[in-house]
Amino acid sequence: MTSEISYSKIEVFSCNKEMKRLSKTVKLFAILTFGCQMNVRDSETIKGILESLGYIETDNPDEADLLLFNTCSVRENPERKVYGRIQQYKEDSGKIIGICGCMVQQGAEFEYIKNELPQVRLVFGTHNIHELPELLEKAEEGQRVLNVWEDKQEIVEGLPAKRDQGVKAFVNISYGCNNFCTYCIVPYTRGREKSRTPENIISEVRELAQNGYKEVTLLGQNVNSYGKDLGLDFAALLEKVHEVEGIERIRFTTSHPKDLSDRLIAAFKNLPKLCEHLHLPVQAGSDRILKKMNRRYTREQYLELVAKLRDAVPGIALTTDIIVGFPGETEEDFLQTLDIVEKVRYDSAFTFIYSPRKGTPAAEMPDQVDEEVKKERIYRLIDLQNRISGEINQEIVGSTVEVLVEGTSKTDPSRLTGKTRSNKTINFPGDVGLIGRTVQVEVTAGKLSSLEGKLKE
Ligand code: 5AD
Ligand code: SF4
Repeated sequence: MTSEISYSKIEVFSCNKEMKRLSKTVKLFAILTFGCQMNVRDSETIKGILESLGYIETDNPDEADLLLFNTCSVRENPERKVYGRIQQYKEDSGKIIGICGCMVQQGAEFEYIKNELPQVRLVFGTHNIHELPELLEKAEEGQRVLNVWEDKQEIVEGLPAKRDQGVKAFVNISYGCNNFCTYCIVPYTRGREKSRTPENIISEVRELAQNGYKEVTLLGQNVNSYGKDLGLDFAALLEKVHEVEGIERIRFTTSHPKDLSDRLIAAFKNLPKLCEHLHLPVQAGSDRILKKMNRRYTREQYLELVAKLRDAVPGIALTTDIIVGFPGETEEDFLQTLDIVEKVRYDSAFTFIYSPRKGTPAAEMPDQVDEEVKKERIYRLIDLQNRISGEINQEIVGSTVEVLVEGTSKTDPSRLTGKTRSNKTINFPGDVGLIGRTVQVEVTAGKLSSLEGKLKE
């Protein structure tokens, strides 16, 4: 008995020694991702490239030889957070600190990083991720490599990706945006809209299906205008994705209301794999503000779209993005936003305080709204949305919903977690063998942002 114990101790000891020896030769990387699903998807590509170069991922930034920040520029706060984190590291930290993503695509931020953050040794942008192997090699040799492209002509296909889960996956269908909403930095950081060819998209979806993935979310800044540059149509692409065997659920994000076609609304009726959920950013409820935002629809047109959608797909879940405190927003305008939220009754909403972004038209507009007023408005908006979300989640208690099981609950590993077709998180007791399967679950409780349930026999 004793000898067995001491034997295993020796094993552990030599194993630790081996790990230490290996960790000197193995290069570790950590990547911190900020912002939207586009960045999450880009980070998957970056991880894929790094692993193909022999790097191994760690979630501990302190032990990483390469620490990358994949950044977001949509609002100022996440930018400040990145700089705060980077300032913790000295120039002689012994690791390569890198920044990529939207922040470095802005001239002013690029200059700031170049001149004020000498500890940053590697910078690449949203258009030259594929150059990472060469750039990193130079950084490893001790050079400081700051290389960002303004835009790119062609989409680079065939890059590796390291995806986190085996159940659902993001698939890019287009990059960039042509809409130039006056508050938004994205058209400047991500460039003009470019669509991937249907062949490339379908072959990626097929490969995912072969690897056991059950759900795909098609990604683009404005998926509704997918294919305009290729003479194609988004609804037609959905029909093709629908044919891929093994894929059970299809979602997409983000939609611009001005481009939501009747054919797309019909797709919700005709394509059973297309989940009954649409993220349809409204941004504001006042025509005056919508115009200043360059959104190119009125509240009436938006409400008509919602009516058409609900007519075609009764019970479709709607979610949205809303900005409060856009320049010139009066109390009257804001009341119109509250009113549209009451009328639509969104399942949930992402709410944002307007954040001026240098280089966008809205940042130069007069009548910037006082910070205190913005805060007071966002609290009122959140209160209203919370009430509505709570009511909607209560209404479905007692019903049975189809759930794709994604894994175990983060807070309680004995419970499973998954999403309803309406994209609500639901937790329930069950066996881990169900992960990746579609099951019927009775909703037993409705909380603000999730549901509780029990498996139907
Ligand atoms: N300030 C606040 N929110 C913004 N968004 C985009 N730009 C800004 C900004 N300057 C929000 C919009 C968009 C979401 C991704 O971020 O609501 O839909
Ligand atoms: Fe920004 Fe408007 Fe394009 Fe969305 S549609 S990325 S809000 S410019």
